[in-house]
Amino acid sequence: MSDASRRYRDGLMVATPRPMARTFKPRHRRLGSQRSEVYERLAPMFGLTEAGPVLDLDVVFAGRRPICVEIGSGNGDLSSSYAQAHPGTGLVAIDVHRPGIARLLADIDTVGFTNLRVVEGDALDFLDRLPDASVDEVWAFFPDPWPKNAQAHRRLVTPERIARIARVLTSGGSLRLATDVATYAAQMRRVLADDSRFMSVNDERPSWRIETHFEREGRERGRAAVDLCATRR
Ligand SMILES: C[S@@+](CC[C@H](N)C(=O)[O-])C[C@H]1O[C@@H](n2cnc3c(N)ncnc32)[C@H](O)[C@@H]1O
Repeated sequence: MSDASRRYRDGLMVATPRPMARTFKPRHRRLGSQRSEVYERLAPMFGLTEAGPVLDLDVVFAGRRPICVEIGSGNGDLSSSYAQAHPGTGLVAIDVHRPGIARLLADIDTVGFTNLRVVEGDALDFLDRLPDASVDEVWAFFPDPWPKNAQAHRRLVTPERIARIARVLTSGGSLRLATDVATYAAQMRRVLADDSRFMSVNDERPSWRIETHFEREGRERGRAAVDLCATRR
């Protein structure tokens, strides 16, 4: 019984589905009053909810354009810089971490770009709101590595979770990953190679992938980043 827990009902043991473990550890940080004001004002305009009906991205971004999704946007450095440098692309940045979401909204407020939407919630649940083959690129840079054996099932890059991501990618679309944990890089390569929905995997680091605070900390501790880019069949 792999993904079910054992429960007793009317004296009989029955299998009930166990909710899938989350890939993140919830962190609760309060916003300062200024960030709070921006968050309250802009989240209704630029935020998409984690759950809800299937979205029409042409409506969300007021016209057809390439769509990218960043899973785990952290403090928002990359999504902010990418959205500003690529005004013709629609970018959806997703994280459970409210201060990072608020920081993106603050950038929208000060810089004035309109091609970014934020989701405060579980990216995997949000993906269920997207139509099949509707996204050109999905990025997950430095997903939480969950290093202990007992935590390995929480990693983002597992066959089941990659299937949820593959569903929304267009044919020829890219799944871009990066990690600075050697064992996780090996797992990423294995999962992608075993998934027939992807036709090729290369080690390309995109020129626009700026070094985030998180990556810099790893590099300063001697951990080099590995990039992987898988192309959807
Ligand atoms: C190690 S940080 C890296 C952040 C950023 N990508 C960077 O390179 O600086 C991983 C982030 O992924 C987020 N995360 C993990 N699983 C997630 C999920 N299922 N949905 C949304 N965010 C998630 C965490 O909250 C965390 O902010």
